[in-house]
Amino acid sequence: MPQTTAKSLYPSASTGRPSKIAIIGAGAVGTAVAYACAMRGDARSIVLQDINKPKVEAEALDIAHGIQFTPCGSVEGSDDVEIVAGADLVIVTAGAKQKPGQSRLELAGSTVNLMKKIVPNLQKVAPNAVFMFITNPVDVVTYVALKLMGLPRNQVFGSGTVLDTSRLRYLVSLETGVATQNIHAYVAGEHGDSEVALWSSAEIGNVPLAQWGPTLTGRTFDSELRKELATEVVQSAYKIIEGKGATNYAIGLSASNIAGAVLRDENRVLTVSSLLEDWEGISDVCMAAPTLVGRNGAGRVLNPPLTLAERDGLTASAQRLRQVARDLGF
Ligand SMILES: NC(=O)c1ccc[n+]([C@@H]2O[C@H](COP(=O)([O-])OP(=O)(O)OC[C@H]3O[C@@H](n4cnc5c(N)ncnc54)[C@H](O)[C@@H]3O)[C@@H](O)[C@H]2O)c1
Repeated sequence: MPQTTAKSLYPSASTGRPSKIAIIGAGAVGTAVAYACAMRGDARSIVLQDINKPKVEAEALDIAHGIQFTPCGSVEGSDDVEIVAGADLVIVTAGAKQKPGQSRLELAGSTVNLMKKIVPNLQKVAPNAVFMFITNPVDVVTYVALKLMGLPRNQVFGSGTVLDTSRLRYLVSLETGVATQNIHAYVAGEHGDSEVALWSSAEIGNVPLAQWGPTLTGRTFDSELRKELATEVVQSAYKIIEGKGATNYAIGLSASNIAGAVLRDENRVLTVSSLLEDWEGISDVCMAAPTLVGRNGAGRVLNPPLTLAERDGLTASAQRLRQVARDLGF
């Protein structure tokens, strides 16, 4: 059993030394991830790496000045990839953000070229880390990174639809007045336009959504309301980007939640994006599905009950993602 040192709150399960998260890219998303991880104490040490040296150093220092009020021990920033060495979890956010109206898949070509550049260096300095990708289009980026790295599927995954699932739960919570934590509904598939809300397995508390009855607005969860809410989830990133240029706080919290699941070996069910192998007839694509996430990364992918329409939606989502990867030579 690994020993817990007196100083470390969340020691690495494998070595007993203080745990370390490395975040690549100190833009709107990377800094929000770092801030959320520091606040929640997901690791004792947090480092940020970015090619923009003055920015990454300033962002890290700004967060470090608040360490007193967090369970975190250190926050550092550098433009040198060596700062990533020894990380237990590497979170990649580097890459161009969506312009207003631009879809995530439209970012694919330039982002894949960036990944070809940075991923081998990250693997070199932190070969034993678990790698989580956030950069969009996250499912394609995760698939490409997995192929480039040649690591086992559990060790390389994407943030998938963890954020979309949280958005859906938020909307159902508003409709019912029940705490988001008690809304058990998942979004699977592409983190993007073809994603699928898994309504047929959704529950509020332990009541199946279909049996919930009238909502606060006097509606029922019929196909019209379901469609409305699912569309709002898909559209929400576009709406936020239109207003403020980026989405960052909720993805920061989502990533921190996933990081905690890994570094505390929680085995939480999270809709991360990982390589699917004969999941509901879908293979050879990275796509979000309810997955056990623990110290080894992305584990067992669960098989919830699906309607025919949900299954067809997921198959179409997988085909779309596979095609983008193929078009880019992967
Ligand atoms: N998966 C999700 O749920 C989700 C949610 C929000 C945003 N995103 C994605 O996250 C990514 C980042 O968004 P953002 O708003 O932070 O963008 P941003 O432009 O604010 O930040 C990107 C950062 O990456 C850095 N960078 C570029 N090349 C680099 C390299 N080679 N090495 C290290 N750093 C490098 C840039 O200097 C910049 O600071 C985008 O792809 C965006 O679409 C994903």
